[in-house]
Amino acid sequence: MKSKIDGKTGIMGIIGGNIKKTLSPFLHNTLLKHYSLNDCYLPFQITIEQLPAAIKGLRALNIKGVNITVPYKEKSMEFMDKVEDSAVRVGAINTIVNKDRLLHGYNTDLTGFKRSLLEDGEIKIKGKNAVVLGAGGAARAIIYTLCQEGIKKISIFNRTLDKAGTIQKEYHSFFPECLIQIFSLKDSCLQNKITGTDFLINTTPLGSYPDIDLNPLPENITLNQNLIAYDLIYFPAKTSFLRQAEKAGARIKNGRQMLVYQAVESFYLWTGIRSEKEIVRQLIHDLDDEN
Ligand code: ATR
Repeated sequence: MKSKIDGKTGIMGIIGGNIKKTLSPFLHNTLLKHYSLNDCYLPFQITIEQLPAAIKGLRALNIKGVNITVPYKEKSMEFMDKVEDSAVRVGAINTIVNKDRLLHGYNTDLTGFKRSLLEDGEIKIKGKNAVVLGAGGAARAIIYTLCQEGIKKISIFNRTLDKAGTIQKEYHSFFPECLIQIFSLKDSCLQNKITGTDFLINTTPLGSYPDIDLNPLPENITLNQNLIAYDLIYFPAKTSFLRQAEKAGARIKNGRQMLVYQAVESFYLWTGIRSEKEIVRQLIHDLDDEN
């Protein structure tokens, strides 16, 4: 197996604002090694001021591709030569592919989220209801996928109501058959909506490292056991929100499967290789071992 860097080594990586805890280098370098490719995947932590030059540099240095993570998923779009349709609608990219020095933007979070529900857990979305906490870039990808998969109703709760309103307006034109309602995170109907929902999905960073005791739910909210509680956070593995849901007897999921599935989709875009189930399962298993 090749592990040496030489004059032909291709470079991929991740660009983000705070990626000290990123698991993407582990995932991609494991895949690169597994498939004996002469490439390596590196972390690039940059400031917002450095973003235009960093993306321009991908062309100059002929970097094969990068992932884009928080908080640059929206802003990066404007530097692309081409953006895939679904990423345009979501308004965010998480993957750049350098095709002969033309930069193409994709959003593999969509596939990542969908596969985490459909393939692994065989969780049905069609005809169901969801409560989504948050209305940022991650929420937009999740809501887009839920609508595509035929969800009946989504209630978005967000601190800034306007942002939820923008999603409601835009997505209504793409998915008129899905009822999207918006509320402030402090709205008293949250309990009612949660009681009647199939999915409760946290897309906010509340509860992620290092503020691991935070919980996006206000106090006194009760959860029931029929719920699927999904937290997009993957570090820590079990957030305060997921612990609360588990205690109530609900099925819980963290963001680690989605992370692996979006990674293998990005890997496919860069290499043309579809990762086999075995290695995907191994990656999910390896991440599950981390706390
Ligand atoms: P991402 O791309 O990961 O979704 P984002 O676009 O910054 O990141 O969105 C973060 C989401 O978490 C937003 O919905 C944000 O609420 P606002 O729209 O009001 O900014 C929400 N969020 C972040 N910090 C929060 C906090 N302390 N309390 C409540 N919501 C919070």
